[in-house]
Amino acid sequence: MIHARITGTGSYLPERILTNQDLEKMVETSDTWIRERTGIEQRHIAENGQLTSDLAEPAARRALEAAGKLPSDVDLLIVATTTPDRVFPSTACLLQQKLGIHGSPAFDIQAVCTGFVYALSVAEKFINTGAARCALVIGAETLSRIVNWQDRGTCVLFADGAGAVVLEASEEPGIISTHIHADGAYESLLTTVKPGPDVDPQRLADGTAFIEMRGNEVFKIAVNTLGRIVDETLEAAGMTNADIDWLVPHQANIRIIQATARKLDLPMERVVVTVNKHGNTSAASVPLALDTAVRDGRIKRGDTILLEAFGGGFTWGSALIRF
Ligand code: UT7
Repeated sequence: MIHARITGTGSYLPERILTNQDLEKMVETSDTWIRERTGIEQRHIAENGQLTSDLAEPAARRALEAAGKLPSDVDLLIVATTTPDRVFPSTACLLQQKLGIHGSPAFDIQAVCTGFVYALSVAEKFINTGAARCALVIGAETLSRIVNWQDRGTCVLFADGAGAVVLEASEEPGIISTHIHADGAYESLLTTVKPGPDVDPQRLADGTAFIEMRGNEVFKIAVNTLGRIVDETLEAAGMTNADIDWLVPHQANIRIIQATARKLDLPMERVVVTVNKHGNTSAASVPLALDTAVRDGRIKRGDTILLEAFGGGFTWGSALIRF
C-alpha cells in the first residue's frame, strides 16, 4: 500500500487588512456584534487585479520549499477554489504556468468551503494508486470579489487567502482517511445570486455573482453535520477523541468551532483558530490554519490531526492525518 504524506505546508495572505472598525463605516454593524457572533476581528482582502492564482503561487512555493521539492517534481496539481481567475483555463492551469510546471495533470475542484478537503481526498487516491508521487494541493480564494458589500449578514464574514500542502508517496501513513459528502437539497441556503438593481452597475456589467446565505439555518446544520462527520471519521479509524492531538477546523465562526471541539471533548488549546485574524476564506481556510500551526511550532511531526469543513452545496468532509 502506498500512503500519502504531507511533507510541506505553505500559505499566503494579501497585505491589505480590513478591520471590524472599517466595516462599521460600510454597513450597519459593530465590532462587538462581529466579535461576539463570529469571533472575527479582521480579515485580509486582495488588491484590485490580484487574482486567486496570484495568492496561490506564493502559498504553493512556500509549501514546496518546506517539502524540499522543486516545481518540476510536481506530478499532480489541484486547486480548490470557488473564485477562479477565469471560467477557463482552470486556476490550476494558470498556476501551473506561473510555477513553470509542464505536463502534469492540473485541475480545479469546486466544493466551496469543503474544497480543500475534497482536493486532499482526490490527491490521496492518485498517490495511493501510484498515479502520482508528488501532489501540490491548494485552497485559494478571492471571495471579496463575490461578496455583496451592502449585505451585513455576509460581508463581515468572508475574506481572501491561500494555503497549500505537498503530498508525497510514502511507506508510512500519512493521510489515515478522508471522508467527503454533499447534499444539493440545501443549495438555496448558501448560494450566489445576481445582484439587484440597487447594486453597483459595474458589478452587474461584470456579471458578478454575490454570496447569499440564510446564516442562522446554515449555522445549525453546520454544527450538527460536523458533529456527525467527527463520529464517522473516528469510527472508520477505530480511534477515540483521546487519539486526536489537534483539530484544524474550517474557520467559519468561532461558535461552530467551539461546538465541534466540545463534541470531541478537546480543550480549545488543542484547536487551531485563525478565524479571528483571517475571517472565512472558504477553500483556503483549512490549509491556512494548518500552515499557521505548523510554522508556529504547535503541530509537530507524528501528531494526529483532524481536519474538517462544511460549506455551500451543502458539502462537508474531514481528513484524519498522522502528520
Ligand atoms: O463557511 C460556510 C458555512 N458558513 C457558515 O457556517 C456560517 C454560518 N452562520 C453563521 O456563522 C451565523 O449564522 C452568522 C454569523 C452569519 C449570523 O449570526 P447569528 O447569530 O446566526 O445571527 P442571525 O442571523 O440570527 O441574526 C441575528 C440578528 C438579526 O437582527 P434581528 O432580526 O434579531 O433584529 C440580524 O439582522 O443580527 C442581525 N445581524 C447583524 N447585526 C449587526 C446580522 N448580521 C449583522 C451584522 N451586524 N453584521
